[in-house]
Amino acid sequence: MEKILITGATGNVGLSTLKLLESRNYPDVEVVAAVRDIERAKKNEGMANCQFCHFEFDEPATYDKALEGVTQIVLIRPNQVSDVSRYIFPFLARAEKAGVKHIVFVSIVGAERNRIFANHRTENHFKKVNIPSTILRPSLYMQNLTSLHRHDIQYNDKMIIPAGQGCVNYIDVRDVAEVIVAVLMNPVNENRAYELTGPEPLDFYQIAKLFSEELGREIKYTRPSTIRFVRQKLLDKKQLLYVVTLSLLYSAARGGKMNYSNDVFKSITGHDPRNLADFIHEYRESWIKPDSSLEPVKPRRRLRRRHL
Ligand SMILES: NC(=O)c1ccc[n+]([C@@H]2O[C@H](COP(=O)([O-])OP(=O)(O)OC[C@H]3O[C@@H](n4cnc5c(N)ncnc54)[C@H](OP(=O)(O)O)[C@@H]3O)[C@@H](O)[C@H]2O)c1
Repeated sequence: MEKILITGATGNVGLSTLKLLESRNYPDVEVVAAVRDIERAKKNEGMANCQFCHFEFDEPATYDKALEGVTQIVLIRPNQVSDVSRYIFPFLARAEKAGVKHIVFVSIVGAERNRIFANHRTENHFKKVNIPSTILRPSLYMQNLTSLHRHDIQYNDKMIIPAGQGCVNYIDVRDVAEVIVAVLMNPVNENRAYELTGPEPLDFYQIAKLFSEELGREIKYTRPSTIRFVRQKLLDKKQLLYVVTLSLLYSAARGGKMNYSNDVFKSITGHDPRNLADFIHEYRESWIKPDSSLEPVKPRRRLRRRHL
């Protein structure tokens, strides 16, 4: 019997992994979503009938119960949990004590080189943990285009990304989930790391063209400086660590370091990863401008005379 614990289970990769495992309904496999708020998590599409446990990285008192009987963990480190020596390392120590046999850690492209990344420190720490691990280093997620960059595309017809003429090879989180599930079902008793890319690197002029063709209006690529990009995203109330990590990766792209593909996804799953044009087609509603004529008419506000 396998018992798989998924952290970050309501997020991009966690939820896709959970859905895939549930849809495949493997015999003798129990899947548990480790979440901060079970009632809130149940409202996510596809999670109503999941098995849950209460878990918070910043509440070590929740670790042991969550780890009871667990054989494998899908470790997704939320961006906001950056103090890994305080939260992730102790969690891994408890996992070792609890007899966990294998961990799939979702890291990020370039983590092995970028000491500044919290995922770099976590990857290194696995050398000290006595649990076989599989480290996945996915390229940037296509889903950033429906989250961080959605508003700029939908309302301003712009892709505002500090990547210059550089390319990125976006990957769909559903493909990351497919690799996770493949690895969970065939765990090996040693430490391995895989870099995961999408099917082809594209620059942002090409990506803006794909958007323009799909949406039937011109989407322009603008290339702000990294500082301007970070400042604007923070003004838009996006999460600091998420924005900083992405901007470092966009800088790497600008320097030509993300302009490559590999066939790891295909060698593990037997088929090609999803491509960006299909993703943009599938999620096109995310960037359609709302039709103002369909908006409910708001009652006119009367100006109140103020008495000073
Ligand atoms: N964005 C990219 O392009 C990209 C590419 C490659 C790798 N990555 C890596 O992917 C990871 C993030 O994964 P993601 O995008 O799937 O996550 P995500 O969508 O940002 O979701 C974060 C998840 O973590 C949970 N969470 C937040 N704080 C928590 C805490 N204190 N304790 C327990 N759970 C907590 C959230 O649960 P709630 O529902 O409770 O909020 C949510 O399920 C990062 O390590 C990042 O470096 C990102």
